[in-house]
Amino acid sequence: MENGTAERWGFRGNEVLSTASAITIRGVLNEVMGNINESDPRPVIPLGHGDPSAFPCFRTTQIADDAVADALRSAKFNGAIADYLSKDLPYKLSPGDIYLTIGCTQAIEVILTALARPKANILLPRPGFPFYEARAAYSRLEVRHFDLLPEKGWEVDLDAVVSLADENTVGMVVINPGNPCGNVFPYQHLKKIAETAKKLGILVIADEVYDHLTFGSNPFVPMGVFGSIVPVVTVGSISKRLLIASRVFSIFPLTRQPLFRRAVPRILEKTGEVFFSKIVNILREAADVCYDTIKEIPCITCPNKPEGSMFVMVKLNLSLLEDIKDDIDFCVKLAKEESVVVLPGVAVGLKNWLRVTFAIEPSSLEEVLLLMSFLVLAYINPYRGDPQPWADPDCADVALYFLPCMHELPPQPVVVSLESSTQ
Ligand SMILES: Cc1ncc(COP(=O)(O)O)c(C=O)c1O
Repeated sequence: MENGTAERWGFRGNEVLSTASAITIRGVLNEVMGNINESDPRPVIPLGHGDPSAFPCFRTTQIADDAVADALRSAKFNGAIADYLSKDLPYKLSPGDIYLTIGCTQAIEVILTALARPKANILLPRPGFPFYEARAAYSRLEVRHFDLLPEKGWEVDLDAVVSLADENTVGMVVINPGNPCGNVFPYQHLKKIAETAKKLGILVIADEVYDHLTFGSNPFVPMGVFGSIVPVVTVGSISKRLLIASRVFSIFPLTRQPLFRRAVPRILEKTGEVFFSKIVNILREAADVCYDTIKEIPCITCPNKPEGSMFVMVKLNLSLLEDIKDDIDFCVKLAKEESVVVLPGVAVGLKNWLRVTFAIEPSSLEEVLLLMSFLVLAYINPYRGDPQPWADPDCADVALYFLPCMHELPPQPVVVSLESSTQ
């Protein structure tokens, strides 16, 4: 429909919000995916997503499906959720402590809106989950970033937290297990965070969307354990651990939300440990494959093996790559040339890094990472312009060309037959 004309429209987009939401995971992924070569017959492989439920091995349980279907007849709400969450805490939560929202996204909206007051600021992790930045801008809450330190297993730079905070700081966000870094904070570090927040007089917002999705040496410790040191608001979701896509929730208008409210307690009560351990085992296996394979790709460094969630951050060494400007350019070329979609680090606050999701069928993960190494090799300085060795029909096996463990040096080609990936 044609718009009418006026001398001056009295409304326009909010520039502050447009700037704050200019970088979103969805926006950057859309940009990367826009470069996929439509005529490439290979299926597109997504390693940039945060919702694994599209893959058969990450499907939710029959219990969840039935619980939603039966929800109309059920009448138990927050009490069951309080009981479920209390299992991991040294005290008991009451139904009044639980606030149900449509996905964790809405929980973040509610909390930041409640915390926003004139001049207030909030401390957010970098890298992090960019919805916090966008939502803080919406509530006119100033954002200050503290770094997560790759050389310390992505622990919080607590000195930075102390120096950033002032009398207007209302809270800090802690995402554990980590998105995008795949780290799991040890007990002692969480305790130090709690003590620091107490000293500063600020609230801890514990984003535990990936709770219990851990497969390394650090077990998951809820921040609520330190509730006697500092006030903690925990935000969680059934979208990750139970693999129930939150879009299922968000497409329903608020008036229908009670249906899901009734389903959640039953889903939590009935879903057995077998289901959780199956998912964690798949993720553990995928994390191993991901870390071991990426370690061998030249020009990409993985400082820490992922121990939780479903992501890992890896660093690009651009000085060894020709004709690749930055992380976005790398991901665009990867989409165009290999039909693989990975999230550029800039979308989560770290330029020239990549966030790789390993929550895909483990059987195809190795092959996908191989495609990533093909791209790297095609752009490594000494090989530029050479015919691509892996395209040689005499190379019967799928061959990976790399120089193991010498990522900082110009690579010498070594052919390794990845037999498992050809079977
Ligand atoms: C760290 C983090 N917090 C919150 C959310 C939002 O969760 P939900 O999809 O349940 O709204 C996500 C989703 O990816 C996330 O990764």
